[in-house]
Amino acid sequence: MVDPATIQARAESRTGPRRLGAARARAPTATIRAMTQLDVEALRRRFPALSIAHGDGPIVFLDGPGGTQVPDVVIEAMADYLRAANANHGGAFATSRRSDAIVTEAHAAVADLFGVDSDEVTLGANMTTLTFQFSRSIAAGLEPGDEIIVTGLDHAANVDPWLAAAADRGLVVRWWEPRLSDCTLDAADLEALLSPRTRVLAIGWASNAVGTINPVAEAAAAAHRVGALVYVDAVAAAPHLVLDARAVGADFVAASVYKFFGPHVGAIFGRRAVRNTLRAYKVRPADDRFETGTGNFEGYAGTLAAIGYLEDVGRMAGAPEGSTRRERLVAAMRAIGAVETRLYRRLHDGLAAIPGVTLYGITDPAQFQRRTPTAAFTVAGLGSDAVARRLGDEGIAVWDGNFYALGLVERLGLEGLGGLIRVGLTHYNTAGEVDRLLEAIGRIAVGGAGQGAFGPGAGTATAPEPGYAAAR
Ligand SMILES: Cc1ncc(COP(=O)(O)O)c(C=O)c1O
Repeated sequence: MVDPATIQARAESRTGPRRLGAARARAPTATIRAMTQLDVEALRRRFPALSIAHGDGPIVFLDGPGGTQVPDVVIEAMADYLRAANANHGGAFATSRRSDAIVTEAHAAVADLFGVDSDEVTLGANMTTLTFQFSRSIAAGLEPGDEIIVTGLDHAANVDPWLAAAADRGLVVRWWEPRLSDCTLDAADLEALLSPRTRVLAIGWASNAVGTINPVAEAAAAAHRVGALVYVDAVAAAPHLVLDARAVGADFVAASVYKFFGPHVGAIFGRRAVRNTLRAYKVRPADDRFETGTGNFEGYAGTLAAIGYLEDVGRMAGAPEGSTRRERLVAAMRAIGAVETRLYRRLHDGLAAIPGVTLYGITDPAQFQRRTPTAAFTVAGLGSDAVARRLGDEGIAVWDGNFYALGLVERLGLEGLGGLIRVGLTHYNTAGEVDRLLEAIGRIAVGGAGQGAFGPGAGTATAPEPGYAAAR
C-alpha cells in the first residue's frame, strides 16, 4: 500500500513543481539545443513489456502506431491513483481533493505537450470519441451548403465524424486528394478546394499508415484566409514530433495518449476563442462544458506520468535543471526524432533491399524529414495478414490491413487485398530489433515469391528492381 501522502510527491518528482490553476501563462518554445544521444537501453529498462519473452528472446514491438508500451511510472501512477486517490470529482474530502489535483495537473501537462494553456485542453475517452463530440459542436453552428474539407490520406477518425456532421447538417464535403506516388498532400491542391463557404479543414498532422508529415501550417494559413477552422489529428505525430499547436495555426489538435507511452485516453486542444463559443452538449449540473460524465481519472494520472516520462527523456537529452516542462518536452521530442530518423534509415534501406517488397509513402531519403518512422509495404505473392501472422509467430509485432486509414488504402487499390504491412518505430526500438525484422521479412519474402498469385503483391510487383518496386 502506498502512503497517500507520497502520491503527490511522486507526481512532482515526475513532473516538476506543481503548478495548478486554470489558464497558465504559455510556456515559451524551448530554445534548448537538444543533445541528440539518448541512452536507449536505459530507457528500455523502464518499459516492463519490452522484456516479455517470446521463444528465445523478448517480443519485438514494432506496432507503435497502433499503440505504444508504457514505462514503469505510468503503471505506478495508475495503481497509486486507484490505491490512494480514487474518488469522484469535486468532493470536500481528501481522496477527492487528491484526485482533482492530479486531474488538473494532467490537463496542464497535456497543455505543455501541445504548447497551449490548460483551460484549452479537454481529456476524454479517445481521439475518435472527442472528434465526434467536437465535430458535432462545430457543425451546430454551420448552415446547409457550408463546405468542409477532409483528406483522402487521413485516418477515418478525422474523416467519418465530419461526413456524419455533413449528412446531419446538409454540408458539402470536398476531398483533398493525396498524390499516390508518394502518399503526400500538396498544399497547392488545397487552394482549388477553398471557397468563401469553407468552414472546416480536417487534416492529419501525420499519416498513421504511411508516415507522411503533412504541410499543416501551410494548409492552416490557407484555410484561415477564407475563415475556416482547422481541425488537426495529431495522433500519429505526437510520439515523434514537437507539437506546437499555435505555431501551426490549428484551432483544434487531437491526440491519443496511448500512442505516446501512456494509457487509453484522448486529448484535444481547442483554441480558447473558438472553443468557448461552441455549443456544448452537456448535462446542466456539470461545470465543464466538454468533459461530460465522470472521467477516466486513473487514466489521467497515467497521462500525467507519461508526460513525466517524456520530461525524463528531455533531461537525458540535455534539458537543464530549471527548465520548464514545455522545454523538457521539446528537448525530448527533438532527441526522439533524431534517434528515430537514424533507425528509420536502417529500416528503409533494409526493406528496400529485399526483392518483392514494395514500399509506400515517401521513399526518397532526401525527403525523410517529411515522414515519421512508420513504414508501410507489401510483399509480392503474400497477403499482408499472412506476413504479419508469420512475424507474430516469431515474436515480432506489426500491424496489417488498413489501420482505419481506409481512404488511402482504398485509393492505393489495396483494400480487399489485405492492405498493407505496417512497421512503426519508436524511440525504444533498437538496431538489433530492426535487423531481426529484416532478416525475417527476407526469409518470408523469398518463400512468398514462390507461393503463387495471391495477395496484393501478386499482380503489382512481379518484377521488383533490386530493392523495391517504385512506390505507387
Ligand atoms: C492518425 C490516427 N488518428 C486517429 C486515431 C484514433 O484514435 P483513438 O483510438 O484514440 O480514437 C488513430 C488510431 O489509430 C490514428 O492512428
